[in-house]
Parts: sequence; C-alpha cells; structure tokens
Amino acid sequence: MSIRKAPKHMRKPEQLRSHQWYGTDGLRTFSHRARTRQLGYLPEEHLGKPVIAILNTWSDINPCHSHLRERAQAVKRGVWQAGGFPLEFPVSTLSETFQKPTPMLYRNLLAMETEELLRSYPVDGAVLMGGCDKSTPALLMGAATADLPVVFVPAGPMLPGHWRNEVLGSGTDMWKYWDDKRAGLIGDCELSELESGLARSPGHCMTMGTASTLTAAAEALGVTVPGASSIPAVDSGHDRMAAASGLRIVELVWQDLRLSKILTREAYEDAVPTVLALGGSTNAVIHLTAMAGRSGVKLTLDDFDRIARTVPVLANVRPGGRYLMEDFHFAGGLPAFLAQIKDLLHLDRPTVAHATLREQLEGALVHNPDVIRPLDNPLAEEGGVAVLRGNLCPDGAVIKHIAAERHLLKHTGPAVVFDDYRTMQRTINDPGLGITEDTVLVLRGSGPLGGPGMPEYGMLPIPDHLLKKGVRDMVRISDARMSGTSYGACVLHVAPESYVGGPLALVRTGDLITLDVEARALRLEVGDEELERRRALWQAPPPRYGRGYGALYQEQITQADTGCDFRFLAQAGEVPEPYAG
Ligand code: FES
Repeated sequence: MSIRKAPKHMRKPEQLRSHQWYGTDGLRTFSHRARTRQLGYLPEEHLGKPVIAILNTWSDINPCHSHLRERAQAVKRGVWQAGGFPLEFPVSTLSETFQKPTPMLYRNLLAMETEELLRSYPVDGAVLMGGCDKSTPALLMGAATADLPVVFVPAGPMLPGHWRNEVLGSGTDMWKYWDDKRAGLIGDCELSELESGLARSPGHCMTMGTASTLTAAAEALGVTVPGASSIPAVDSGHDRMAAASGLRIVELVWQDLRLSKILTREAYEDAVPTVLALGGSTNAVIHLTAMAGRSGVKLTLDDFDRIARTVPVLANVRPGGRYLMEDFHFAGGLPAFLAQIKDLLHLDRPTVAHATLREQLEGALVHNPDVIRPLDNPLAEEGGVAVLRGNLCPDGAVIKHIAAERHLLKHTGPAVVFDDYRTMQRTINDPGLGITEDTVLVLRGSGPLGGPGMPEYGMLPIPDHLLKKGVRDMVRISDARMSGTSYGACVLHVAPESYVGGPLALVRTGDLITLDVEARALRLEVGDEELERRRALWQAPPPRYGRGYGALYQEQITQADTGCDFRFLAQAGEVPEPYAG
C-alpha cells in the first residue's frame, strides 16, 4: 500500500475549522478547553492540531462490523503519529442481517447523522468506518454534503465459509442450501452444521455482494488508501490499512483536500465501469446514483446501461463467478483490477492517497489471472447489469443477467401476481396457482414506499414442486431490490413502483409478460386501452406511517431510478456553518 509523500502543509492551525471551538479568545472557547481537559487531554495533545472524527458503525448487533471498535484504535494510532487529535464518534449501525424491514429504510438517516455530526462538532476531517451494504453509501453521502477531507476505512470481507470440505460463499450458498433443504436433499443436521460454517469471522459478506461492490466502488472513487477494500477483516493488513488511513487523513486536512475535490464526475464515471466489470451488485445502481447526486453529479440508468455494453466482466467472484473476496485480494485486489481496465478510467484525477489515479495504479500486478481476468479472457463479454425499458417499467428496471440462466433471458410467460411479500410467502406453494417453470412470478408492494424501503425480496422463491423437479431459476419481476449475493432471472427496481400506481400495479394473473434482455425490453402484453381501464379502477393505498421517521421517509423518498434519496437532502442549497464562539 504505497502512499505519496506528504507535501508541505498548506494551511495554518488558525485556518482549521476546529480553531473556532478551541483557538479564539472567548467564554465558549474557555469552556471547550475546560471540557477537553475533563476528557483527560493535555492542551498540548490537541491544541492547534487537526481534529479527526472517526465515525464508527461498530455495534454488538452487527457481525460485519464487530471488529471495528478494535480497528478504530489503529486509526487513532495513525492520527496521533501524524500529529492529529482523534475523537471516535459512534454512529448508527446498519446491519443487513438484523434490521427490519430493511436497513435501506435507514440509509438516509445515517447519511443525515453523518452530515450533521461533521457539521456541528469541531471536526477538521473524518475517517468513516463501515462496509455492511448500506453503511458505505450512507457515510459517503453524508460526508459528501458536509464536504470535509475524508478517508473511508472499509470493514473488509469475512473469511471464506467452510462445510464438509466445501468452500461456502455468503448469501449465495445460504440460498442454495436452503433450496436443497426445501427440495429434501439435506436435513436439519446438515443445516445446523452450515449455520456454523457460513460466517466464520468478523467482516462483511465475502462474495461480490453489495458490501464488496460498494467498498470497491469507494476505492475506485479514490476515498480509501490503495488496496483497502478487499483486505480480509481479520488480516493484520487490515490493522495496517486502518493506521495508514489515520496517518493520511491528517495530511489531507493540512492540504484542505476536501471530498468535493475527490468525488468528481470523472470519479463517478470510473466507479460505474468498476462495479460493472466486477459483476457487482444491482444495489450499486441505486447507491451510486444517490452518492453522485450528493456530489452534484447526475448519473442515470442509461449511463449504467451504456457503460455495461462496453465493459466485460473480469472478476471471477461469486455469485457470478467461482472465487471469493480473499482470492480476489491475493490476486492483486482492486489496484490490479483497475489496472486491467485503465483505458476506461480517468487516470489524471486525484485520490486521497495520490496526486493521480495513474500514480496510484503504477506497478499493480495480477497474481492470478483466473480470478482477475485479462480483457481477452473475460468472464462475460458485457457488464453484469442490464437496464430494461417498456410499458411495465417506464422509468426503468434492472436485471443482473450474468447471474441468470441463459434460456430465460428471452422469455414470454403468463404472470402469477402477488400483492405483497407476506401473501407470496404464504401461497407460493399453493398448487391452485398453477405455477409452472414458464410462469413469470410478479411481486408488487415492495418498492421504496410499498416495502417500505425496497427490501431485498426480489429473488422470489421457486415453488417446492418445481425445486423437486430440478428447476432452479424462473423469471421473477418486482419493484424490490435483491441481495448482491443472490442470483436468478430477477427483474428488479421496477419504476415507478406499484405503490404509487406504476404499471406493475395493473398486472393481473394470466397476463403475458415478455422479457428480452438483448433488446433491453420488459413488456406487459396488454393493450393500452385495457391498461387505461384498469388504471381508472386502481386505488392508491393509504399512507403507511402517521408519525415519526417513517412519516418523513414517506414524504421525502424518491424512486429507485433516482437513487432513493430524500428530496430535501438531494436538492442544491447552502447550510450555514454553526457559530462556535
Ligand atoms: Fe453485512 Fe452481508 S450481512 S455485508
């Protein structure tokens, strides 16, 4: 992990933001100094030094971040060594596994908390610690708006899973073995062993799920030290990366290298081909759109589709490929990966570690060309995500076609419609529904408002009778999201969602639906006149929340194609600095 030598300091202590709290001559400053002594610090330990906030998403309930409390000590070590003053701030944890209905409901809440903490305290720069799915975009969205110097410390993937001499991948193998259990191929004894083998250490999911995709995107954007995103969470290299991040943030503060100078249009234009060439999670489409919006950069679904058609998939990592994140790391990690696609990147833009991305990628080598494939031997010719259009999704939908069975990518079949997830769970195995392998399963009521929070319901289960026949994939359509570790011919993020009257609300069981990925088409084969008649009969559901955060959410949330940010957070406008004197 090379980092360029620090240039001379560009700012003086009096120019630090924290000077307003500590350095001026007034009653409040006297109080701030007294209270810092109350915390046990000598004046010479902090006065005139950059105050570095370490925003830590550690929690007892979040197994993906359970090592971050210890890791924050390494960040502090780096900050002290570089002459800064580290202060750790606990912030909300977004635990993909435990938080219901979905942490996506709370992504914008963590983004708000991040922004307001950085603004309201004497902070000169920040180290953001996270990795479990939504925590990466949430922290970066808030920090982008606060616009201070920032380094992101990814939580790192957990160790590979193991069971009876088989290597297990997060999520991917959970779904697979759960289907085997439903098909009667394994029993309770095997399931119990699998529970112990699937997640063997702290760290986020170790497939190319949403966590690995988003932390890789953060590294591609240039907000981590080089190679940070794939270091296994329990590797001693993770400690060293955390210390290096602490060292680095102090220099960024002296240079006043704010996030707005890193998160440019060019940076986002590089993050998109990165996640597509990784065969990354469909969730990245929503999160990168929202993150870019906070940076004043407009990313559209068409940008993703256009780039996907020109970018091959080079990462041979599950669920689309064979290996896991530890293999990817030892194959060279993201620096080696980016070096493979460097002709697609803006190499002259800065990162937090180097004056240019070109400099950062110098000497990056692939050590295993089966894990990180060369351009002339890709895993797939096109990037992993396709954007669909048609009368069923006027504002778009996405499908991760590399993780679907090929024969389903052009398919017409009759719909079986479920109005909500609970109904689907209760009735999916009902023989009276007449579901065959040609059926198109449709789930509605699962979008940003309907879910609420767009839960990861999009990989609808295959009915038991079809599983027993060996069917492992079907066309499924919803306004939900899908876990990055999932797979199948699942059309996701249908916009506008059914809850607000999108065409998905008008589909009836028996209607024919056509999916044609090559033509990027998703069509409901019902005439316009009939659809208008159904629309006239459609009734909007009542508001879901009468008070609290949910009420704010339902008032402000945008649809999937624009990133599901809150309108009042995404809009342009100034927020004044607090008066600290
Ligand atoms: Fe945290 Fe998968 S559950 S990253």
